[in-house]
Amino acid sequence: MAVFPRLRLRRLRRTDSLRALVRETKVDSGDLIYPLFVVEGSGVKQEIASMPDIFRLSADLLPREVEEIAKLGIPAVLLFGIPEDKDEVGSGAYHSQGVVQQAIRAIKQSVPELLVVTDVCLCEYTSHGHCGVVVDGYVDNDQTLPLLARTALSHVEAGADIVAPSDMMDGRVKAIREALDEERLQHIPILAYAAKYASAFYGPFREAVGLAPQFGDRRSYQMDPPNVREALREVEQDITEGADIIMVKPALAYLDVIRQVRDTFNYPLAAYNVSGEYAMVKAAARQGWLDEKQIIMETLTAIKRAGADIIVTYHAKEASRWLQTK
Ligand code: PBG
Repeated sequence: MAVFPRLRLRRLRRTDSLRALVRETKVDSGDLIYPLFVVEGSGVKQEIASMPDIFRLSADLLPREVEEIAKLGIPAVLLFGIPEDKDEVGSGAYHSQGVVQQAIRAIKQSVPELLVVTDVCLCEYTSHGHCGVVVDGYVDNDQTLPLLARTALSHVEAGADIVAPSDMMDGRVKAIREALDEERLQHIPILAYAAKYASAFYGPFREAVGLAPQFGDRRSYQMDPPNVREALREVEQDITEGADIIMVKPALAYLDVIRQVRDTFNYPLAAYNVSGEYAMVKAAARQGWLDEKQIIMETLTAIKRAGADIIVTYHAKEASRWLQTK
């Protein structure tokens, strides 16, 4: 085996071309999913204060937005709905004329080939802000399952290509798979937020959708951040129930989880580069404390290097622009 001075690892770092030739990990627009926040009404475009350049959009403004996204080579969007009315059981989540259902139709009419992934959860639609039905102050798992299944079904009936349950109830993937199969929707994949942690990195998202649980927090259903063996069990459970793609969330403080899931399961793996991760980069860049473009590309590269095939990221558009002009 060669050793110094015959071995010189710096040889392959000397020029741009040499570095490119031996690069192990590449970020590609085709691996990115761009989240979109959709609101009711028309002509609405509101910037989210803690997430610069990210907007809440009404359905009539979606066609232009998704044309731009598709032109950048981004294959998919992930939809979150912000309804005007909420109730105890989150009815807006599974209403055929709900905010997400209308957004799906608007997108599919303008750019049919763009994949529409929908976040399946009740929290944006419940008056108490929890991800399921609350019984005696506790989120009831089994009563929530049929509502999640109904939500997923209504998204697919409106034209969604992939459904992505993010609620962390046990058995939701099975409930959704069965509901879809009963309606002969066997071809619709499920992207399961399999290992989703109870994380403070979701802070800006909660501002974006105007929600926080009215009481308590999400720790009785989302995962405890110190656990990684449990993440493998969550992933195993979702795969057993029929998940097609699995996801780890958040990404940056959980790169070890992404790596372990990648090494343990041969399923397509997504990672969610969440709102707080985005907000930190934007805030520091605005102060001139970081080189924004380099930080973002380094971050996305790290998530891929950890083992993710797909990245859900608010940086998708800007990163794709940079990749095009590289
Ligand atoms: C809804 C949901 C959340 C996020 C995605 N789906 C919030 C939460 O669970 O509290 C977070 C996304 C982000 O922070 O970017 N269940």
